[in-house]
Amino acid sequence: MRRLKKVPVKKIGIIERYEEFLPVSKKTPIISLNEGNTPLILSEALGTLMGVKNLRIYFKFEGLNPTGSFKDRGMTMAVSKALEEGATAIMCASTGNTSASAAAYASRCKMKCYVLIPEGKIAKGKLLQAFRYGAQVIIVKGNFDKALELVKTITATHPIQIVNSVNPFRIEGQKTAAFEICDDLGDAPDYHIIPVGNAGNITAYWKGYKEYRKHGLSKKLPKMIGFQAAGAAPIVLNHVVEYPETIATAIRIGNPASWQGAIEARDESGGLIDSVTDDEISWAYRFLAEREGVFSEPASAATVAGLIKLAKKKYFKPKTKIVCTLTGSGLKDPEFGLSFNDRIEAVEPTMKSVLNLIEAGKS
Ligand code: F0G
Repeated sequence: MRRLKKVPVKKIGIIERYEEFLPVSKKTPIISLNEGNTPLILSEALGTLMGVKNLRIYFKFEGLNPTGSFKDRGMTMAVSKALEEGATAIMCASTGNTSASAAAYASRCKMKCYVLIPEGKIAKGKLLQAFRYGAQVIIVKGNFDKALELVKTITATHPIQIVNSVNPFRIEGQKTAAFEICDDLGDAPDYHIIPVGNAGNITAYWKGYKEYRKHGLSKKLPKMIGFQAAGAAPIVLNHVVEYPETIATAIRIGNPASWQGAIEARDESGGLIDSVTDDEISWAYRFLAEREGVFSEPASAATVAGLIKLAKKKYFKPKTKIVCTLTGSGLKDPEFGLSFNDRIEAVEPTMKSVLNLIEAGKS
């Protein structure tokens, strides 16, 4: 019998993989959970749905990072650099994912982690993560923007390192997702679609694409296309939204810290930033899970909602490649996921009752 060949599997984090592009040195203690290297999944159903066959649409599924969101790319950098600089505590404001990620990386190097969370507006899975990774969770009566203001003030006057994306190391780490996409496709895509909340990620991707091209590792630059939720769309409206509202709690932000970075990404790339409604987001969220087998959170689905909106207007040139970043895992938000009238009551354990339900489900 032929012996099966053993394939060595070594999963490394983004700092080791892309260290020549990152502000690290031999002295930097690398705090990693082997983040990054997430799959670029080719869409099966979207092209048919939109009646366009000649677009190649990919999902960069960041929900498969160690804590279930893209934040891990930035956090491995922010926490490693904080440790290198001698910090013993970190702090962030968060709609949930940043806090989960900060708490996880802090726990690996015995750092204290403080997270400020807007009351009532965080997905349960994210809150669960922050607690269980051992952060001190402080819930504030106010929204994300208010919490971030507080964090900025406190960290400016106390020996605590801020790990929101105003910390430039966060952007450095997050730009590696653009590198991975270029490595996988052999070049940058024609369009890159991404949800926009605090606007750090669109800023980071654009930086990543530009750097890769500058080093001759890709030839093209994509048009950067951002989507905000209609009730939390300050960049689209061109003014601060004092009371942002959306079911996509991750992007419920009215005054993004990296506003300028998002504008630059949009304008330098010749892209756009637009909004999608909560209904469009909900529909795309279900479509992604039910037809593509990719379960991402509502904020992530804003990309696909936006893609459909633009495709209806015939925005995309034929024969082009589109990448949609799906920023976080659907498992983060079980409450939203179970809000769709699914039948969850038990039936009698008989053939009849089970077959009755199957029959009823056909109609
Ligand atoms: N998608 C998800 C799942 C997010 O958690 C966030 C941001 C975004 C998109 C938007 O990214 O802020 O870089 O424009 N979440 C932050 C947090 C605000 O606190 O977890 P952005």
